[in-house]
Amino acid sequence: MTSFILKGDICHSIAPQALQTVQNAYLVCIDGQSAGIFQTLPEQYKGLPLVDYSKHLILPGLTDLHIHAPQFGFRALGMDLELIDWLNTHTFPEEARYADLAYADGAYKSFVQDLRQGPTTRANIFATRHVPATIRLMDLLEHSGLITMVGKVNMDRNAPAPLKEQDASTSLADTQTWLTEVNGRYSRTAPILTPRFIPACSDELMAGLGQLQLQWNLPVQSHLSENKQEITWVKDLVPEAESYAHAYYQHGLFGGNVPTVMAHCVWPDKEELTLMQAQKIWVAHCPQSNMNLSSGIAPIRKFLNLGIPVGLGSDVAGGVHTSIFRAISDAIAVSKLYWRLMDQTTKPLTLEEAFYLATRGGGGFFGKVGSFQAGYDLDALIIDDSTLTPPRESLPLPDRLARVIYLSDNRHIQKKYVQGMELAL
Ligand code: GUN
Ligand code: FE
Repeated sequence: MTSFILKGDICHSIAPQALQTVQNAYLVCIDGQSAGIFQTLPEQYKGLPLVDYSKHLILPGLTDLHIHAPQFGFRALGMDLELIDWLNTHTFPEEARYADLAYADGAYKSFVQDLRQGPTTRANIFATRHVPATIRLMDLLEHSGLITMVGKVNMDRNAPAPLKEQDASTSLADTQTWLTEVNGRYSRTAPILTPRFIPACSDELMAGLGQLQLQWNLPVQSHLSENKQEITWVKDLVPEAESYAHAYYQHGLFGGNVPTVMAHCVWPDKEELTLMQAQKIWVAHCPQSNMNLSSGIAPIRKFLNLGIPVGLGSDVAGGVHTSIFRAISDAIAVSKLYWRLMDQTTKPLTLEEAFYLATRGGGGFFGKVGSFQAGYDLDALIIDDSTLTPPRESLPLPDRLARVIYLSDNRHIQKKYVQGMELAL
């Protein structure tokens, strides 16, 4: 059933500062897309099946623009470390285990189950460098009904032997094998090129990935300017690059005609900002990870003022929580610290703005996603907020939304729809 009507209390974003809330309204879904929100049901839709969620909130599904599936299992460990030490101590040894398909299968099942039960409907996901495990993850995600982009990770230097790929040509050959095997295999799961970050990718590998991008016309995801030690390291490794961003750009892996999402972007310098803007780079803002790994606070207001598109990411396991509701409240909190401690001319994010980033902001990377305006894919969460404690009678809808963002958990999610398809929770 992808044509139907949902009835309930609806909140969604029209623009960053424009939250639309409509009480006791009808949301019409035709062939997986929204036909709009109506206070009185138009005659032409009266024959469609109606699902009555009166008194429940109906929100757009949330997009996680940056998450590492193989890091789900060691969440909460090593949170006293900074990025490079955390990668070497926890991340790389754990990711090396995904050479074992049986291990990967069990771990990825837990990951996908968690994502399915939470508020995320779309996600950009890093796997590991292993081809069989990455395909298993994609199979599981396809079956879940979520819509995702998944990357086999490329990394041919600066990692321990069991995880590092042997050399650039092995990494590229594995990537070809992976792309050939998943080509045409899925309807809801797509490959995305995933060089891990510049310290882990040789020039030869980056040049080869640039060629693969042209051959397969793929989007790109990676990490950018997350940590100061990392940025200095990139300057040493790629001295000819004008900025960290330029090290991707010189290989055709930084926006323009290539849809590209970069995680973090905590410390962009002027050249980098200019290149990000010119190349229409998407920023995956991962506030919890930036706190846990003490990376810093990304200048989100600057990005928004420059028209750089921004979405939110959990960055599990730099972030501990998979819920993008948590990323919304963290984004607001860190923006307040940025304003208080770093730049008092920079206004903190409002709840409306942060909700926009989690829905329509990040959703834009997937097309017309993250809103209920007519023509958008119908990704929806049905939330029972009557069981939030303490109960509050008759709050206005924006206040109910705030309580859901800050206080709800997966138990409050009654139903989830992705492109009009109801998921099993
Ligand atoms: N940079 C390179 N790899 C990673 C990773 O796994 N997590 C984070 N947060 N940053 C990275
Ligand atoms: Fe990351």
